Amino acid sequence: MEEQEAVGRLMAEMTLAEKIGQLNLLAAGEGLVTGAAQHTPLARRLDAGQVGAIFGTKSRASARAMQERALAGSRLSIPVFFAEDVIHGHRTVFPINIALACSWDLDLIEETAAHAAAEAAAEGLHHVFAPMIDISRDPRWGRVAESPGEDPLLAARIAAAMTRGFQGRNIADADRVAACLKHFVGYGAPESGRDYDNVSLSWEDLLAVHLPPFQAGVAEGAASVMVAFNAVNKLPMHANKPLIEGWLRKGEGFDGLVISDYTGVKELTAHGLGPAAVAVARALHAGIDMDMVGEDFLEKLPTLAREGVEAPHAGFSLSAAEIVDLVDKACHRVLIFKSRLGLLSNPFKGLAENPVAPSRQEGRKLARKAAARSTILIKNDHSLLPLPLDQKVALIGPFAADRANMLGTWAVSGKVEDVIPLNEAVKALTGTEPAVAWGANIVDELWLEQRLNVHGVTVERDSRSEDAILKETMAAAHAADVVIATIGEAKEHAGESSSRLAPDLPAPQRRLISRLANTGKPLVVVVFAGRPLALGEVAEKADALLFAWHGGIAGPQGVADVLFGAASPAGRLAVSLPTHPGEVPLYHAAEPTGRPSLGNFQKFRSNWLDLPDDAIRFPFGFGLGYGTVRYGSPALSSDTAMATETVLLSLKIENTGPGEVVETVQLYASDPVARVTRPARMLIDFKQVTLSAGEARELVFEITAQQFRYPIALSLLSAEWVRDPGTIQLHVGANSRDTQSVELKWLT
Ligand code: BGC
Repeated sequence: MEEQEAVGRLMAEMTLAEKIGQLNLLAAGEGLVTGAAQHTPLARRLDAGQVGAIFGTKSRASARAMQERALAGSRLSIPVFFAEDVIHGHRTVFPINIALACSWDLDLIEETAAHAAAEAAAEGLHHVFAPMIDISRDPRWGRVAESPGEDPLLAARIAAAMTRGFQGRNIADADRVAACLKHFVGYGAPESGRDYDNVSLSWEDLLAVHLPPFQAGVAEGAASVMVAFNAVNKLPMHANKPLIEGWLRKGEGFDGLVISDYTGVKELTAHGLGPAAVAVARALHAGIDMDMVGEDFLEKLPTLAREGVEAPHAGFSLSAAEIVDLVDKACHRVLIFKSRLGLLSNPFKGLAENPVAPSRQEGRKLARKAAARSTILIKNDHSLLPLPLDQKVALIGPFAADRANMLGTWAVSGKVEDVIPLNEAVKALTGTEPAVAWGANIVDELWLEQRLNVHGVTVERDSRSEDAILKETMAAAHAADVVIATIGEAKEHAGESSSRLAPDLPAPQRRLISRLANTGKPLVVVVFAGRPLALGEVAEKADALLFAWHGGIAGPQGVADVLFGAASPAGRLAVSLPTHPGEVPLYHAAEPTGRPSLGNFQKFRSNWLDLPDDAIRFPFGFGLGYGTVRYGSPALSSDTAMATETVLLSLKIENTGPGEVVETVQLYASDPVARVTRPARMLIDFKQVTLSAGEARELVFEITAQQFRYPIALSLLSAEWVRDPGTIQLHVGANSRDTQSVELKWLT
């Protein structure tokens, strides 16, 4: 209430120009670090009271200087807030988000977000552009690296966990920040996997697949939302009133801040919605409060507020009074956001002399645990892993001693020198220096290397001929007891604007694996990547295979822990691994067709001619451990139920191996007869348990009719959520394929 009153008082005193200034979200740029004396566009804006928030400050001192300048430039001394891309950690860089999702460990994910929040807050940041919660089912899209994966239930739980981690109980607390759910919405489903491209989705998929993570984040109290670059079903999101004002604000009751993405308002013109003034009016009308970087709000709103806008091509017009009213509403939300952060009473929040930053050592410990937990053991023939500590190891491939790529995409505050590379991690664990040989380049084509350089990465390259490189490598392999081959992609192979035509391993690396397999030495392959890569024949040739993603500052240490048994492999795929790059998009919850890919149809069926039926598959939820977990038969408390009742599914699991295991027990369901075709399997719950050697545990899942609601929609806002009586199947097991089933009949 007090909050509302303070904001109300400010609003009553502010001029229209001052209100428009609050809607301007600018990048810090490089120049202002030297403080008040420097004349930069940002400095000019601050002096004129035309900045609501700044992102990308590089130190507390520069943020402090900017805040002083903002306060001096604002007649009513309204502070700016500071934001940053804190995507998978801040100074302490954790594994990329898709990797964290593969831990299926919600407490751990929350802890990483809380640690990042505390580090960011100690540098004077108030707002993070995270969590990124775009569902992604197409590994061609580079931003799958930042995403929680393909499944709406897992992604929704991660959205809630990260929001809790960033915000804690109160975003005004000294060690917390405001979260920002992004990118609203559908950004993860662009046509052909090309970044920023348009998205055509059934309303049902939008509602049941892409919106649930946002719903979960809003329910958890996320303070802000960032709008996506793409169009959804023809309407660009920056002008998408039905989704922003309709679904998000009215439907979900979201009362926080909505910000544009980087120049997203300006880009409405390129989308074909009209000149800048129309773009601005449509974005504001759609419910966007702040304009990131483009400055179109700042430039166009003064005139729009005098003259209104007519856009007959869009069947759209707003009077001057309506524009003024929309500016009022947006500014009010910006000020409420600032007051929720505690900034109106303490503009130098987090900018004091001695902030309490969390311990870097604790951060590294957490990062190492997270890296081990995110690593997926895909294959382990003849229990090759874990390796004994006294074996002679040859570490081969471009990632054997790599630091830079381990940080992954969007590690804007990470430092390469903080990464402990794999060769050092192995030495620290085994006491022996492994032999290291380069083996293959990360990219085979010079043009691709140049493209990557444009993205700011210098791909390290061995310029000798492949034969010369391989000769040296084979000598190292022959001299070792076991070969660990490190392959994959560079960090900027994935990330924003880094879509790939074929998400697979570069040819020189595939040739390397063939040569190493021919040596007859036990071959462990470790894949470092930003997306689920099609492994092809590499999966067949490896004796053991770890999918390790880009694991952050302690990524290689986590991998070494798994390789040598200091940690038990716990990762489970949060995205299906394609066998061939051409079979994407790929996801476990696809609906069945009338001619299923396997079964009676020999020829005319939903499949590819050139993908063998017996190709190895690594389905969603899959991952091995070192132990053996025995699953008992699932039992229901009742096999019929009324819709108002809760049914219990129980099963016993037992660790029959000699060491501790972390098991993620997954519960899927199918609804075989419904009004429309339903996913063949959908994840409805999961439980992660740690079992010591010989330990058995009884797990109980609660089943309610609510879990079986699905949308029927002719349009977004006319959607009806329905549920049918009848039989559903429940499948419980260690991944989406290897399950045991029971049937439950809803009587009503
Ligand atoms: C990205 C956002 C990011 C913003 C600010 C944009 O290009 O899409 O995810 O938060 O830049 O860095």
